[in-house]
Amino acid sequence: MFERPRAGERAVLVRLGLGGSVKPEDIEEFEQLARSAGVRPVATVIGRRERPDPRYFVGSGKAQEIASAARAENAQLVLIDHPLSPSQERNLERLIGVRVLDRSGLILDIFAQRARSFEGKLEVELAQLQHLSSRLVRGWTHLERQKGGIGVRGGPGETQLETDRRLLATRMRSVSRRLERLKQQRDTGRSARAEIPVPSVALVGYTNAGKSTLFGALTGSEVYVADQLFATLDPTVRRLRLPGGAPVVLADTVGFIRELPHELVAAFQSTLQEAREAHLLLHVVDASDSQRDERIHQVDTVLREIGAGAIPQLRVYNKIDRLGVEPHLERDADGLASKVWISAAGGQGLEPLRDAIAERLHLQVRRRWLHLPASAGAARARLYAAAVVRDERSLEDGALELLVELPAAELALWALQPGVTVLEPPPRSAAAACAPKEPYLESVATP
Ligand code: GTP
Repeated sequence: MFERPRAGERAVLVRLGLGGSVKPEDIEEFEQLARSAGVRPVATVIGRRERPDPRYFVGSGKAQEIASAARAENAQLVLIDHPLSPSQERNLERLIGVRVLDRSGLILDIFAQRARSFEGKLEVELAQLQHLSSRLVRGWTHLERQKGGIGVRGGPGETQLETDRRLLATRMRSVSRRLERLKQQRDTGRSARAEIPVPSVALVGYTNAGKSTLFGALTGSEVYVADQLFATLDPTVRRLRLPGGAPVVLADTVGFIRELPHELVAAFQSTLQEAREAHLLLHVVDASDSQRDERIHQVDTVLREIGAGAIPQLRVYNKIDRLGVEPHLERDADGLASKVWISAAGGQGLEPLRDAIAERLHLQVRRRWLHLPASAGAARARLYAAAVVRDERSLEDGALELLVELPAAELALWALQPGVTVLEPPPRSAAAACAPKEPYLESVATP
């Protein structure tokens, strides 16, 4: 029912400043969106109004201006960077004489092109069907008969209207049922994962921040990467090993975007569930983006919308190669690892990042000497069996000291064993002054 866009369609881009002027970066983002859909922007029309015009969204003078631009540039498409009502879209099409697509329609189209999993494809199809059904009204189909191109997808002819409505409703029911079944399967998979107590981490971030690249760098897997918006649509889940061998589950998720259409947020409920149920979010930021603080804010807004606003976040500032910054870790006022500066493409800063993930998940592995009494042979055997012993020394009274690497929580359990003592490190300054290289006092994961 939905065709792919014809590459290179010529489009006029339109954006209004409502109650203010249009910002150049908004135009830039919209152009990038259009290119992501395979469209060639050939002209941009901007304007400002206090509020949208009920008939055309833009004023009638502006609508004429768009029509002239479309004629002059021989455009096949007009893209409006705002949500239009079905009647505004229809009125504009009548006046301009070429197809008009609003921001939601454009984003739906890009999502349709990028969906990778079966579930993702169905979710987009359902959202597209909903979008289409709201526009399937008598008197509007004059352009749809010209078949093809983005936002049209071989739409119906006017005489077919009733049949098409019925077909659309049947298709929507069938897609919903299949999605429901898939959702059940996904829930089963997720609860199976939940039974194994493996913490989960989800990559989130503004589209094009570098999530797929980082996912690949951390898991060593090949994922689809493209220098276009929305290269990733469906969460991809892989196992990731942290320092000390602790396993976690890492999920890649869809790229977020300003003003994500609400029908899409609704459609992606189940794929975004991976983010909602994560123990930790890696919020990937394109550090070289001049709009980076605004992007962070927009991603946080979407996270709140999908119910993931309260999940702990570790900010990952990516693409430091473009800034000439060295990879490093920043801590907040409480000493918590909060920001890591990396280059996913160059593989820089991945070790501090893994350490920070482990620390934030309380999986931080510590290196400590354990004092065991002579009678604790069984405990010694267990530690060796777990492959956590790095060194051993015998004391005169037959007692032993083992240098081990264990997560903090497990060390605490060993400290409760009869006769076992965990030798705690002296304060950092004292350690630095008297024995800077003393290994048994170093925490492995703390830089
Ligand atoms: P969406 O799927 O659209 O949400 O994008 P994403 O966040 O998954 O981004 P992706 O990994 O597809 O990367 C987007 C672009 O940024 C690609 O061209 C990458 O090659 C590039 N990129 C990723 N990491 C780096 C980096 O560390 N430095 C530089 N210079 N480019 C990078």
